[in-house]
Amino acid sequence: MALMKTNSNTALTPVHWFSHGSTMMLGEESESATYWKKCGDEALANGIKGVIIMGAHWASVNDKIHVATNPHPAKSPVAYVHPSKYADYQLNPDLPTANRCIELLRQEGFDAEGDAQFDWIHDTYLVLIRMFPHGCPPTTIVGMNARYDPHYHVKVGATLRPLRKEGYLLIGSGGAVHNLYRNKWEPMLRYRDNFAQESPPEAWALEFRQAVEDNVTQNAGPRLRRAIARLMKHPQYRDAHATDDHFMSGLFVAGAVGDKEDEGTYGKLYAETWELTNMCNSQFSFGSFVKSAA
Ligand SMILES: [Fe+2]
Repeated sequence: MALMKTNSNTALTPVHWFSHGSTMMLGEESESATYWKKCGDEALANGIKGVIIMGAHWASVNDKIHVATNPHPAKSPVAYVHPSKYADYQLNPDLPTANRCIELLRQEGFDAEGDAQFDWIHDTYLVLIRMFPHGCPPTTIVGMNARYDPHYHVKVGATLRPLRKEGYLLIGSGGAVHNLYRNKWEPMLRYRDNFAQESPPEAWALEFRQAVEDNVTQNAGPRLRRAIARLMKHPQYRDAHATDDHFMSGLFVAGAVGDKEDEGTYGKLYAETWELTNMCNSQFSFGSFVKSAA
């Protein structure tokens, strides 16, 4: 029996795919940081129930996927940022929702379990501090699987997508162009200037950045899922991502906002910050709180 479409009267929260960039994105002001704050303000104004975020720094081996269940997580230190910008920020782990995510993932066949020892890393709390400087909403961190299979991570996003109907804000925190081996580090190491652009970004970085924007903004629904997965076969993908970890959150996002019900919801590029010459921190959002689905 065909399922009835429910989007005519069910509000779906927006989904964000953020590029968190270097640690200095926490300490220095940027267009991206301003946009993160705006997204946080909107989320609070619309009474989100919590945040569910996949970062880029936590992956499990073999078939496992972990969800953070540490009730009192510490923060991994952030290089090049004064501790006053993060040390006292209170993290707010949402254990009931973490357990729900584990259940939902298990029901879909994932080998999911909680990790009660996991300490949070800047890939997630950098964005949370920027979005919610006055207090972290209840937050669930979903890890990655270290095989970095795009379809696996799409399915993780698709599995948790129904939580958008309950008022959860789903976020992927990774990078559009993020190859630490190809960044130009000298201005940051010598002058703490992560935004120095002594030369333009190199051609491979510009090319892949454009491919990401085109694919995110020109595809919706299941086509979005295929498009983001296909980007991993782009000729410049391996130049732009020496490792796959910062691209997986894009697949998670594509799963979370790539259902048939999401057709017509296109990603938009709202802010962008280049760092270290070749790292492109593009900030995409899909849908909005105010849009009532047709
Ligand atoms: Fe990172």
